[in-house]
Amino acid sequence: MIAKPEFAMHASLDHDLSPLAPWEISAEDFPHDGSTVEKWKFLIGYAVLAPSSHNTQPWLFHLHGNDLELYADRTRACRVADPDDRELVMSCGCALFHLRSAMAHFGYFGGVAILPEANDPDLLARVSFGVLEENSPEESMLFYAIPKRRTNRQPFRDDPVPPSLLDALRRAAKDEFAWLHVAEGEETRHAIAELIAEGDRRQWSNKRFRLELAAWVHPNRSTARDGIPGYAQSVDDLLTYAGPLVVRTFNMGEGQAARDHELATGSPALVILGTDTDTPRDWLHAGQALARVLLRAQVENVWGSFLNQTIELPDLRQRLCASVGLTGCPQACLRLGFGEDIKPTPRRTANEVII
Ligand SMILES: Cc1cc2nc3c(=O)[nH]c(=O)nc-3n(C[C@H](O)[C@H](O)[C@H](O)COP(=O)(O)O)c2cc1C
Repeated sequence: MIAKPEFAMHASLDHDLSPLAPWEISAEDFPHDGSTVEKWKFLIGYAVLAPSSHNTQPWLFHLHGNDLELYADRTRACRVADPDDRELVMSCGCALFHLRSAMAHFGYFGGVAILPEANDPDLLARVSFGVLEENSPEESMLFYAIPKRRTNRQPFRDDPVPPSLLDALRRAAKDEFAWLHVAEGEETRHAIAELIAEGDRRQWSNKRFRLELAAWVHPNRSTARDGIPGYAQSVDDLLTYAGPLVVRTFNMGEGQAARDHELATGSPALVILGTDTDTPRDWLHAGQALARVLLRAQVENVWGSFLNQTIELPDLRQRLCASVGLTGCPQACLRLGFGEDIKPTPRRTANEVII
């Protein structure tokens, strides 16, 4: 039986906070003189800002002495779009990278064990609180990008993504045991865009997929602390007002396919992040690599957005490898570019995800 830390009792107080309040976190408020528990709680405030598929935030944190354990919350799984929990585990990997990054910035990162208990697949990582050390400028640079990062589904400007940044993103993926492939040439991009459009048509024609998505898409006025508000979507304006009803009822696959095709061919950079093999351990690495890549891009004001349809359907995933000449397992397809800032999406607070 897991004992509740004393502040978990205060989680209910956070219900009155705005769903965007977690983004107002400031490094200046770090409790330097506080207890380890207070420090953990503050650091988790950065983990919860991580991206997650459909903004499901499928993570839970458990304080265990000097360690913090990261658990997968499989009650938040998307059984249709993500039947193996691959993206769920990747999302937790993103939260883990945010946590590591905040710990490194404040000088307390003591190491991480991935999947430390062979008989508990839900325990994804155990992170140790280290003794105070000096941080590096590289670590702090990624840390300061955390509150600025968003999934930006708007079209990007034509300005190219600097080749030096693409090199840095390749290194960022490699540092986390993953790889990043930049799609070059019109023909390759066109082939990927065709697969993305086919993925859209197939997913939207599946009523079960639409029902699942509808559960996580909210109208703008919603006070939900998870899921995707209408304003963050690239789909029809109607969705912004009517949200789940539209998603559930109408097959918008054709329109979505046309839009995504244009976004894939028109974005300054189209990249695929992947791993050599396809196990839960790889998914955790892929999630950490994904977060590192997105934060590194954000440092240079480059936004990222996902076009994962091809990876969510197994046969399209294989065809993606064949069209691009990839060996290994693609885990995320991203477009990158410069554009306008957008509003963040809701989050649950640290108190709400601590067990
Ligand atoms: C593993 C993973 C898969 C995702 N897949 C998609 C996707 O296919 N399409 C999309 O528009 N967004 C996708 N997202 C982005 C999430 O919807 C987004 O992170 C979430 O809504 C929170 O918004 P934020 O990133 O702006 O904080 C994905 C995110 C993760 C971590």
